[in-house]
Amino acid sequence: LLPPLKVAVTGAAGQIGYALVMRIASGELLGKDQLIELNLIETEAGMSPLSGVMMELEDGAFPLLSKVSATSNLNEGFGDIDYALLVGASPRGPGMERKDLMAANAKIFAEQGKALNESAGINSKILVVGNPANTNALVASENAPDMWPEQFIAMTRLDQSRAKGLVAEKANVPVKDVDRVIIWGNHSATQYPDLSHARIGGKWAKSIITDDKWIRNDFIPRVQKRGAEVIDARGASSAASAASAAIDTIRDIHLGSPEQWLSNAIPSDGSYGIADGIWYSVPTVCEGDSHYRRVKNLPIDEYSAKMMNATEKELIEERDSVRHLLPGHENKPVSW
Ligand code: NAI
Repeated sequence: LLPPLKVAVTGAAGQIGYALVMRIASGELLGKDQLIELNLIETEAGMSPLSGVMMELEDGAFPLLSKVSATSNLNEGFGDIDYALLVGASPRGPGMERKDLMAANAKIFAEQGKALNESAGINSKILVVGNPANTNALVASENAPDMWPEQFIAMTRLDQSRAKGLVAEKANVPVKDVDRVIIWGNHSATQYPDLSHARIGGKWAKSIITDDKWIRNDFIPRVQKRGAEVIDARGASSAASAASAAIDTIRDIHLGSPEQWLSNAIPSDGSYGIADGIWYSVPTVCEGDSHYRRVKNLPIDEYSAKMMNATEKELIEERDSVRHLLPGHENKPVSW
């Protein structure tokens, strides 16, 4: 067995956290030969339910789990970690507007960025799940000046998996036959699920799904609003599938999945004309050993460009609304 790697999970007593920690403990995150130390982080109020999660982890008798600790102290929780999954976030309260939610969460992620900067392992990778995930990743990274922005990834894998599922259903094939589906932009209703490069059983998806109307009028809005569809049916937001996507994201980054295009929201480097410095979902290739690179130079048609710009615009607006929490950018005008 490999010596333990340290994984921190914030919001570990929440519904995603609950599904997530059991799967991490069972070896699904980093491989079946990898020992794991879990640092579970919650708010003060979350410590009591978290103690129950700790009991259940103990009762699971997971052979790969070498240690579990629970804390509300960020520096302690992030101490020397290899991976952090930032799931905990402020929920939308009654009458709360999106911008209030944005501000409340930006404050949380600014604090977490500072603590990661002080305490996290030098090669750590940080996956931001808590919403608004892209902008939370930006805020955390800007508050962690000694870390590379690329160490922070906001999760859009769930959106990609949802999109693949709908394509598989439409084409009547198993989901494993669908690849190269891309999510561009924000993990929000402006995201652009793109089938221009997708393949079904190795063939160009658009030669099999020839109904462009279905793509534009059914597929795209359905992926964009899938979260709401789950809430309507379940009476609670996606949790097991979100945990699954978080596992998939980190597992692929850690172990590599070089043959796949995986959507991840990462700091823009200006590729595809997207503004620098926002966390924008793009196709990436995970080369293993914690390395990933973006897929570059894909041809973008006019419709895609329009959709990609709309989600970019929302991310720029989000960034500008939390400017007060971005050290060094507080007084800058709308774009920098
Ligand atoms: P939840 O409300 O069940 O759990 C959140 C947990 O986080 C709670 O136990 C709470 O005590 C804790 N928490 C709150 N603030 C914290 C802080 N500052 N530090 C540590 N812990 C803190 O929510 P759920 O369903 O688990 O969702 C968590 C987040 O994930 C939400 O923001 C949700 O919108 C987001 N999400 C993101 C998805 C994505 O694809 N990126 C998909 C689904 C959910």
